[in-house]
Amino acid sequence: MTTQLLGASSAQMVHAPVTVPVLQRMKQERTPIVSLTAYDFSFARLMDRAGVDILLVGDSLGMVIQGHPTTLPVTLEQMIYHAAAVVRGAKRAMVVCDLPFGVCHGGGAAVMAAAVRIVKESGCQAVKLEGGVRIAETIRYLVEHEVPVMGHVGLTPQAVHRMGGFKVQGRGEEGERVVADALAVQEAGAFAVVLEGIPATLAEKISKSLLIPTIGIGAGVACDGQVLVMHDLLGVYEEVIPRFAKRYLPEGMLTAAVAAYVQEVREREFPGAEHSFAG
Ligand code: KIV
Repeated sequence: MTTQLLGASSAQMVHAPVTVPVLQRMKQERTPIVSLTAYDFSFARLMDRAGVDILLVGDSLGMVIQGHPTTLPVTLEQMIYHAAAVVRGAKRAMVVCDLPFGVCHGGGAAVMAAAVRIVKESGCQAVKLEGGVRIAETIRYLVEHEVPVMGHVGLTPQAVHRMGGFKVQGRGEEGERVVADALAVQEAGAFAVVLEGIPATLAEKISKSLLIPTIGIGAGVACDGQVLVMHDLLGVYEEVIPRFAKRYLPEGMLTAAVAAYVQEVREREFPGAEHSFAG
């Protein structure tokens, strides 16, 4: 990230680790926060070097890494495994790890035990929880015990069965429920909140009224930051392609690389002498 991007008063923070106060300052200075999901060391390092501020170890890994139709089967062990790999690749970026489905249902102490395991065993800086008013007390409990929490309201993929699919939330009068959820998350002490799959006008209203940064995904351009699933950015996950997913890699590029390898092996062009060892 360049000095111009952060603005003069944030210049000293350019290479400094991204922390909760840094994100708060970025909101105040209207510097867009950049987040991407990451699930392994190599991509975490690449994203960190490219200037991504928050590496989110999302339970979307259940879909894009494991091939499940939803995020629900992901376990706590799997989240810790991936988060630890991402942390090893991150020098500057903050690493946030999702609490997987089912963990929140155990209430304060059970959630705390899971969050402590995530932070201790992976080395990440914060956890993310889906839900608003319903889980506000749980968020408060974690924050009071020094676990930084990122909230997640609107389209919450762990509620896929209740929602009847990955559907836009908060249209019309339903918007008030999303506003209440976002306020509850802030009130409970979260340092930021993901706004997923809600109308852009609603996300703008929430972003203007909250003091903490909003990180949008399918929530329009007025959020304080944006997050994308890495596989959507690369265009390598075809099972669900949300309208908000933008591909940044030319279509077919990765397939072409693999196809070139297949062809060279078949034609005994690979490995060449430069890739072989002399006796
Ligand atoms: O699991 C995930 O990747 C997420 C992002 C889409 C915000 O929650």
